[in-house]
Amino acid sequence: MILPVILAGGSGSRLWPLSRAAYPKQFLKLNGGGTMLQETITRLKKDTTDSPIIICNEEHRFLTAEQLRQIGQLNHNIILEPVGRNTAPAIALAALCALQRGNDPLLLVLAADHVIQNVGAFQEAVVKATKYAEQGKLVTFGIVPTGPETGYGYIERGAESDNGFAVARFVEKPNLETAESYVNSGNFYWNSGMFMFRASRYLDELKAHRPDIHAACEEAIGDTSADLDFVRIDKNAFTKCPEDSIDYAVMEKTDDAVVVPMDAGWSDVGSWSSLWDVSDKDEKGNVHHGDVMSYNSNNNYIFAETGLVATVGLEDVVVVQTKDAVLVTKKDQVQDVKKIVEELKAAD
Ligand code: GDD
Ligand code: MG
Repeated sequence: MILPVILAGGSGSRLWPLSRAAYPKQFLKLNGGGTMLQETITRLKKDTTDSPIIICNEEHRFLTAEQLRQIGQLNHNIILEPVGRNTAPAIALAALCALQRGNDPLLLVLAADHVIQNVGAFQEAVVKATKYAEQGKLVTFGIVPTGPETGYGYIERGAESDNGFAVARFVEKPNLETAESYVNSGNFYWNSGMFMFRASRYLDELKAHRPDIHAACEEAIGDTSADLDFVRIDKNAFTKCPEDSIDYAVMEKTDDAVVVPMDAGWSDVGSWSSLWDVSDKDEKGNVHHGDVMSYNSNNNYIFAETGLVATVGLEDVVVVQTKDAVLVTKKDQVQDVKKIVEELKAAD
């Protein structure tokens, strides 16, 4: 059986003011159906996957448990991080926990905040990845790039094998010029941020490239064998753990990675404009949530949480109204919403 590990500890700051420190985007219903966390679990193939390990911030334990309960996912493990140290340590904690409980399972590491429109294609890619992971490979899932996005990792294709390619090079978040050259070369995929490997393989690679992170996680995890819903992590030990993502800490450095291409309508909905991209639109290209009226307005994303929002003569604009904040921005500038969040944090 495959053991899913769901990373649910991010802050999603570019989706402010809907996504907040107390309520980040993985816990929101952004695109119909369930919340992003719930959709991540329900799209897994039941007959080949175990109950997932969820790893999130301690602060979100009740939110997480309640959302799992709502989808009938009662048998679960939730690892609670006392502080966020990014994804390399988070995955290490999950891998160590899995090893303590089982016999070195294949981990399917998933972000809790992606939209996948074609579930069948996603499940097929997982089947292909399984074969490589069983051989000890670190598998990534590659998306054909549609532009020089600088918020993604880039994977250069190497030698082809049955269902994928060796990773010739992995470059996390290159600058714009570099990203353009990668996209133009036609040899690169975007990293989808999903991974598959045996728990021990990930830990071995982490130990080889970042022994400091590996050691801190081993110290922080302690004994998790008690069968509790919540696994708590030693705060002092984990606070000392260096912060890094799996992309920089392991994927850029390993020689043993494989990329399985995935064409599944994937989007990481990192911003309001990417959410607009993947949402159903009306005949004028507008996405409206809640009580919204518009006149002579096209290609907007309008979200009204409390009360009516009306637009007249607006194009390519995002308006997000919540009970204590309103955001108004142009669709091509939504990446900078995080600047407001940074300022708010600094003022705290
Ligand atoms: N538990 C836990 N703890 N989860 C975390 C933490 C943490 O400290 N930090 C981030 N996460 C979760 C997020 O909630 C998200 O689900 C996932 O891990 C990825 O983190 P992001 O912060 O969203 O990463 P990114 O978008 O900048 O980059 C990653 O994803 C891209 C695709 O969306 C990288 O893997 C890129 O290479 C990739 O292209
Ligand atoms: Mg992301």
